[in-house]
Amino acid sequence: MGSLSETDRPKFGQALNQLKELIEDQIRQKEQSLGLKTAQGDVSFDPTLPGISPRIGKLHPITQTIQEISDIFTRLGFETVDGREIETEFYNFTALNIPLDHPSRDAFDTFYTESGHLLRSQTSTVQVRVMEKRKPPIRIIAPGRVYRPDAVDASHSFMFHQIEGLMVDARTTFSDLKGVLHLFLRKLLGPDIKMRFRPHFFPFTEPSVEIDVSWGKGWLELLGAGQVDPAVFEAVGYNPKKVQGFAFGLGVERIAMLKYGIKDIRLFYENDLRFLEQF
Ligand code: PHE
Repeated sequence: MGSLSETDRPKFGQALNQLKELIEDQIRQKEQSLGLKTAQGDVSFDPTLPGISPRIGKLHPITQTIQEISDIFTRLGFETVDGREIETEFYNFTALNIPLDHPSRDAFDTFYTESGHLLRSQTSTVQVRVMEKRKPPIRIIAPGRVYRPDAVDASHSFMFHQIEGLMVDARTTFSDLKGVLHLFLRKLLGPDIKMRFRPHFFPFTEPSVEIDVSWGKGWLELLGAGQVDPAVFEAVGYNPKKVQGFAFGLGVERIAMLKYGIKDIRLFYENDLRFLEQF
């Protein structure tokens, strides 16, 4: 500019300013078409800045465990069905052969609403709901939350997850129960596990068992199971002389704790990302 004459200098300056405006205008238009905006409307996009990577969410370890278990049962021909968390006394107790004054109600007596409903204490409620609606053959599993009057500590929670299983047909024997659960547990925990059946009592199965699993270092109780009690078949309108079946229930938290080496059940419910991001 120093080499321009006195008269040319302002003209040149003017031309430069026009050019600048033109370029800024173009940039603004481009920004607008790209959806970029700043409060001042001035230059906003710096392609040299590092990008903002989106946070990728993960499924909760309990959800992952439920999905893994459902996948195995799907391959065995079981359909996954949904149940209700708010139930009536009939589905949680009476239809499952637990009369009003039965001592086994104590461990299951849960949270009641003023309208006479309750939060289910076991997923066995879904057995009744499914059989009421369908005719055999039935092969279902039903995952979901259950509620118990338990004090919270490292291994207890007033809310946890169960998966119920039910198989009913003209002839579904105790050896079918054994075969299905053996296949399932080996698929889930490894081919070398051992399974042990201990006699037990559940009002809605007869005979009933608890199933323990071992990897060679002691036994861990994982499931309750048994042949569906004729009284339950009667409650849903089946003829107990014509159908047979088995049912089982397993605790999801317990399996997840075992699989991942988690020592405290409360970690599942605290929503601490330092814990959740590990799965
Ligand atoms: N509902 C039982 C429980 O919560 C488990 C179970 C399910 C046992 C089905 C037998 C058959 O402990």
